[in-house]
Amino acid sequence: MEIKRIQEMDLEGKRVLLRVDFNVAVDLGKVKESFKIAAAKETLDYLLNKNCKVAMISHFGRPAAVKTLAGEPGGTPNPEFSLEQIVFDAKEILATNLTFVSDCVGEKVQIAMENMLGGALLLENVRFYAGDETNDAEFAKLLAENFDVFVNDAFSVCHRDQASVTGVAKILPSCAGFRLLEEIHEMTIIKDHPIAPAVAIIGGAKIETKLPVIKFFEEKYDHILVGGKIANEAIDQKIEFSDKVVLPIDFVDERLDIGPKTVEKFKEIIAGAKTIAWNGPTGKFEDEKYAKSSNEILEAVIASGAFVLVGGGETLEILEKNHAMNDITFVSTGGGAMLDFLVGNTMPGIEVLKK
Ligand code: 3PG
Repeated sequence: MEIKRIQEMDLEGKRVLLRVDFNVAVDLGKVKESFKIAAAKETLDYLLNKNCKVAMISHFGRPAAVKTLAGEPGGTPNPEFSLEQIVFDAKEILATNLTFVSDCVGEKVQIAMENMLGGALLLENVRFYAGDETNDAEFAKLLAENFDVFVNDAFSVCHRDQASVTGVAKILPSCAGFRLLEEIHEMTIIKDHPIAPAVAIIGGAKIETKLPVIKFFEEKYDHILVGGKIANEAIDQKIEFSDKVVLPIDFVDERLDIGPKTVEKFKEIIAGAKTIAWNGPTGKFEDEKYAKSSNEILEAVIASGAFVLVGGGETLEILEKNHAMNDITFVSTGGGAMLDFLVGNTMPGIEVLKK
C-alpha cells in the first residue's frame, strides 16, 4: 500500500495541521495513558525541527456536538470533554511547550498561529462540532483554512470517515506521520506475514464485533485463544468454530474470569508461539480478583520470545498496570482501528493518503 509519507513532503517553515489521538483516560486531572500522547512525539519533533508552525488536533471522548459554525446559535461545550485538562501532562510527555487554543477552527486558531513563538498549539476537541462526525465539507474547509499541510499520525481513528481524518486530507497536501507509518507496517506483519506457529488471543466484550476477528484469525493463524465476556457469549450462543479456536474449559465464580485449567492450556500454546496478536482481557480485569488470568497470560506472552502485537484500550491497561509496555514488540494505539485493519475493512483515513 503506497501512501504519502512525511519524509517525502516539503515541510520547511510550513503551517501544519497534525491529527493526533489524545483521546486518553484521565483520572483526577492526571493522564492515565501517556503512551497514546507519547506516540505523537517523533512526528511533532520532526516538524518542529523543520521550523513548521504546528497545531495538533484531536478528539476527546464522545461529547455532545454543541458548537456551531459562524452565525448559527449553539450551546456551551461540556468542560469534561475539553482537551485543556490534558495540556499540563501533554507538555511533559512531549517535552514541548504547548499552547491551548479554545477552538479548533476560525479566528482563535488564526490568531494563535500568527502569534506563535515556538512549541506547538493544541486545539480544542474537534468533536464539539457536529461537522467532524458528519464529515461536513464546509467544516473541513474551516479546519484546513489556516494551514498548508495536513499530517495524520493517528492510526486509531483511521477507521473513521470524519472531517479531521479524511475531509481535511482531501483539501490540503497530506501525508502519514511516523507513528501511522509504523502502525501500518507492524499491523501488516501481523495480518499478512505471521510466522508460524501464530497465536491470537481475543478477549473483551461484544461478540458481534469480535466474531469477524476470530474468523479472520481462523483462516491465517494456528491457534485462537478466546477468553473474556466474548467466550461466555460464544458458549451461550453455541457458535461453532474450527479446532483452531480454544474456548475456556473452566471459569472462576460467575464466569468472571477463565479458570486455572484454561489458563494452563493457553500458556502451553503461548509458549510455543512465534507470533502473537492480543486484543482484549481474558477476564473482568478491572476487578483485581478477576485479573489473574490476564496477568498470567501477559507473563507467558512476554516469556514466549515471540513477535507480539498488543492493541485495544483495556489490554493496554493490563500492560500499564504490570509495567510491561516496553516488554512487548509493538503496542498499537488502535482499538477499533486495529480490529478493522486486521479483518480487512476499508480504512478511510489511510485510503485518503494513498498516492
Ligand atoms: C479509540 O479510543 O479507539 C480512538 O480514540 C477512537 O475513538 P472513537 O471510537 O470514539 O472514534
